[in-house]
Amino acid sequence: MNIIIRRNKGDVSIAAAEHIAALIRKKPAAVLGLATGATPLGTYRDLIQMHRDGLDFSRVITFNLDEYIGYRMNLSLPYSKDQSYARFMYEEFFRHINIQESNIHIPDGRADSPEEECRKYEALISKAGGIDLQLLGIGRTGHWAFNEPGTPLDSRTHIQGLSKETLDDNYRLFFHNSGIARQDMPVCSITMGVGTILEARALLMIATGKRKASVISAALEGEITNRVTASAIQLFTGPATVLLDRGAASALKNR
Ligand code: F6R
Repeated sequence: MNIIIRRNKGDVSIAAAEHIAALIRKKPAAVLGLATGATPLGTYRDLIQMHRDGLDFSRVITFNLDEYIGYRMNLSLPYSKDQSYARFMYEEFFRHINIQESNIHIPDGRADSPEEECRKYEALISKAGGIDLQLLGIGRTGHWAFNEPGTPLDSRTHIQGLSKETLDDNYRLFFHNSGIARQDMPVCSITMGVGTILEARALLMIATGKRKASVISAALEGEITNRVTASAIQLFTGPATVLLDRGAASALKNR
């Protein structure tokens, strides 16, 4: 595991974007695993700028980590009223680059059978040849994707209930102006499993800010446990890069 500590959030974002862009330049039809949340926003902005400067996404294939159950992109609604992760990705990244719509994959939170959707998602990842590089954040509960504490480390794409901490964090981040009350937030998701993530050929995990410091130290230096599903990074045998700012790295014993 290669842990890189940068001065601030902006430096982490650009370093992550450069890491992803280097893969796309080497492999124009790269299969990227992508994340939502506040942390990767800067990386997406930097990749959009790189696209304006010539980076080509026309053959890139993407798989997002997760989606809320009951949610699917609805472009007839204003962004503030459509809180699906699909809409987040469309607004913050996809509509600004030349990716083909058919190459974008996000679990459908409104599928008739969410169980079947999970199986289909796994099959689509396999059909694409697996994920070359998975971008990951880390949640306050130590989660990767929506793999909350207690999720088996060999889990596949599955339906996952969300913890109070995760709902609180996501309400603060995504539901401003939406008119949706905290108690009406979706409490379930479809998420790639930890086992699915560990099958990617490379991982790129990013975290910024002091509030992530304790969970970063638990994931990178603590026990490997499904109480902190991101600690599975220690089991990963391929190349794993962790990009942190000084705040997120501040509790690492070996920094
Ligand atoms: C999002 C995801 C989550 C986030 C995590 C951190 O697709 O899978 O695991 O990476 O909740 O979120 P932020 O970046 O908002 O702190």
